[in-house]
Amino acid sequence: MTTPATTTTPPTVAPRRIDVSLPGRGYPVHIGPGVRHSLPEVVAAIGARRVAVVSARPPEWTPDPGVPSLVVPARDGERNKTLAWVGELCSRFAEFGLGRSDAVVSCGGGTTTDAVGLAAALYHRGVPVIHLPTSLLAQVDASVGGKTAVNLPQGKNLVGAYWQPSAVLCDTDYLQTLPPREHVNGLGEIARCHFIGAGDLRGLPLHEQIAASVALKASVVAADERDAGPRHLLNYGHTLGHALERATDFALRHGEAVAVGTVFAGRLAGALGRIGPARVTEHTAVVEGYGLPARLPADADVAALIALMRLDKKATDGLTFVLDGPRGAELVQDVPEQVVADALDAMPREPVARA
Ligand code: GLY
Repeated sequence: MTTPATTTTPPTVAPRRIDVSLPGRGYPVHIGPGVRHSLPEVVAAIGARRVAVVSARPPEWTPDPGVPSLVVPARDGERNKTLAWVGELCSRFAEFGLGRSDAVVSCGGGTTTDAVGLAAALYHRGVPVIHLPTSLLAQVDASVGGKTAVNLPQGKNLVGAYWQPSAVLCDTDYLQTLPPREHVNGLGEIARCHFIGAGDLRGLPLHEQIAASVALKASVVAADERDAGPRHLLNYGHTLGHALERATDFALRHGEAVAVGTVFAGRLAGALGRIGPARVTEHTAVVEGYGLPARLPADADVAALIALMRLDKKATDGLTFVLDGPRGAELVQDVPEQVVADALDAMPREPVARA
């Protein structure tokens, strides 16, 4: 963790605001350097008298909410996304006397916003939550759209709820604290936006890429809050991505796995005749342009990956992918197993970085 040298540095770029429009429950996402310091205004706007701040960052990175607060230290990581942790958080809120008209604040990566969001959804049958995502992955995806979840021994994100935040503060100063691999990991979710309607974001300043990714997500969530249709688009590259995460025991990180899954989605769409060779190649170029992995892990077992992909939450039957095509990206059900196996067999391979 680096020193928060930017805490007192005036922002050099104007913050951006994207609104997630939902009937009666819309909320702003603020993006830019220093936006975490607007937390007191956000807390005041929702009328909270007290807040519980659950933070996976050191105290100097956790902004003052401007009202009496309880600070609960947290840890990022899939291992900490448990029902036991949600229960512990709710007990801490109760001991503090947090009421329905108060609020919860999360400060951390996507695993923290997921678990704290679920605790907020359950405590008193729902209290307002404000997210301060600190990783690139959480800023461009996890903190926006109201999906909350914890893991079970049987699988990832198996218990959760839709609970929209009251506001999201994507402070780009937090990104300076990320290790290089974690930064690249977040780019995986940005890269897949290229193929689901955001257009070519390469070359834009990072905060503009974040804003464009959030704007795309906001429009998709506004159209389909509960994943009944269009929201599946956000899972571009995720069918193979999720399988790769599990097959590598999470040695391949989420954004990295989605990047490989995005390249594969392009190849599969090509094999099915949905897109031409230039668009297939564009998938690899975009992913590699972000410095992301584009190849299958050297030891990946095709049959095991196919078995894992059959468990995908989008699948009603057979193998299901979000694939590019003449009408843009869409959900494609029942892709023949042999086509999938051949496309996987044809993927180049490389060892997984384990740093
Ligand atoms: N991360 C995909 C979604 O929020 O729907």
